[in-house]
Amino acid sequence: MSKRMNIAVIGAGDMGNTHVGAWQNAGHRVVSVTDISEELAKKTKEKYGIPNMYLDYREAAADPEIDIVSICLPLALHAPVTIYAAEQGKHVFCEKPLARSFEEVKAMEAAVNKAGVHFGIGLQRSFANSLKIVKQMAADQVFGHPMLITSTGVAEVRPKRLMHDANGNMGPLMDNCCHYFMMWKHIFQSRPKSIYCIGDVFAKDRPELSHIEKLAIDTAVMSVKYESGDMAEMVITWGMAKGFQLGGRSDRLYGPRGGAEGDFTNITGSITIYEGDQRRELGIEGHRQSLHAEQFQTFAQAIEQGIPAPVGFQDGKEMLTISLAAIESAVTGRIVEYKHPE
Ligand SMILES: NC(=O)c1ccc[n+]([C@@H]2O[C@H](COP(=O)([O-])OP(=O)(O)OC[C@H]3O[C@@H](n4cnc5c(N)ncnc54)[C@H](O)[C@@H]3O)[C@@H](O)[C@H]2O)c1
Repeated sequence: MSKRMNIAVIGAGDMGNTHVGAWQNAGHRVVSVTDISEELAKKTKEKYGIPNMYLDYREAAADPEIDIVSICLPLALHAPVTIYAAEQGKHVFCEKPLARSFEEVKAMEAAVNKAGVHFGIGLQRSFANSLKIVKQMAADQVFGHPMLITSTGVAEVRPKRLMHDANGNMGPLMDNCCHYFMMWKHIFQSRPKSIYCIGDVFAKDRPELSHIEKLAIDTAVMSVKYESGDMAEMVITWGMAKGFQLGGRSDRLYGPRGGAEGDFTNITGSITIYEGDQRRELGIEGHRQSLHAEQFQTFAQAIEQGIPAPVGFQDGKEMLTISLAAIESAVTGRIVEYKHPE
């Protein structure tokens, strides 16, 4: 167990509550929760027995007792809150995606580096045992080379309308696909080479989104070619009717020698492995704690040991590069070359 850190969780929505529970389960102390909604902050404070609550993140981040500011806010707030917290000398753990643009990332990194604090990003699926298994099998050439992965995400119009706003959370190519890009990175162990994407707005006539000035692409199919020769395809939609019954499909991996099917970042269940003409079910070893708790433990240990966070700016920047390239490709109709962020 690393040093017991004092945490300020900013945002008391879905992820805010997940962060509070996971920091506590990881053995750390959540000292405060902040939300502009007094009702939500109070509810979370009472549910988890948190000593303090604030309506302004500046007050929470300025508390001298705090070691880590844990950000669970809409995307547009990731940069300003990270910068403010770093200026207060706090380590920052920020939910994915990293930011909306590289201008924002530059300012975040400058503030974090100047303060000499640690920065981690919430891509907890990287810690899934199922992913470790598929990654190892890919490295052992069980499937042969090159490989092709297909992933799908199918959802009805999101109840949090901001997720559809091109100036808010920027739709699924930004908000959701980063999890898949990270999974592909783990399995292929290679950098993307080029990205091609076509997309549209299925939900453009939905009255519940009519207040949004510019809707983000909510439905897309994208292909990514990797330097290794591997390929990935993503089919994503957040534009389906309320109560839509047809869900996404499991991840599938194909190679010249075999393949795999399952949710490669799931924490329970099994993955089907195909080798030549053989097929077998591989049970996934359960996790002792949630992936969020595991990522917080690893982040706290990195701070204590003075080593970089295992999932931080570099991964966040790579995922952002792919998301921005996909959006650019969908808008221009061109293949976009991947430029690796340094
Ligand atoms: N890692 C994951 O698997 C995962 C899953 C879901 C969401 N997320 C990410 O977590 C972040 C938050 O998502 P969520 O689902 O919890 O959203 P949410 O809408 O449920 O919660 C956000 C909260 O922030 C509060 N808020 C807004 N502006 C504020 C401000 N200025 N100061 C304080 N509070 C403010 C809102 O009142 C709301 O309660 C997003 O970046 C999202 O992409 C990550």
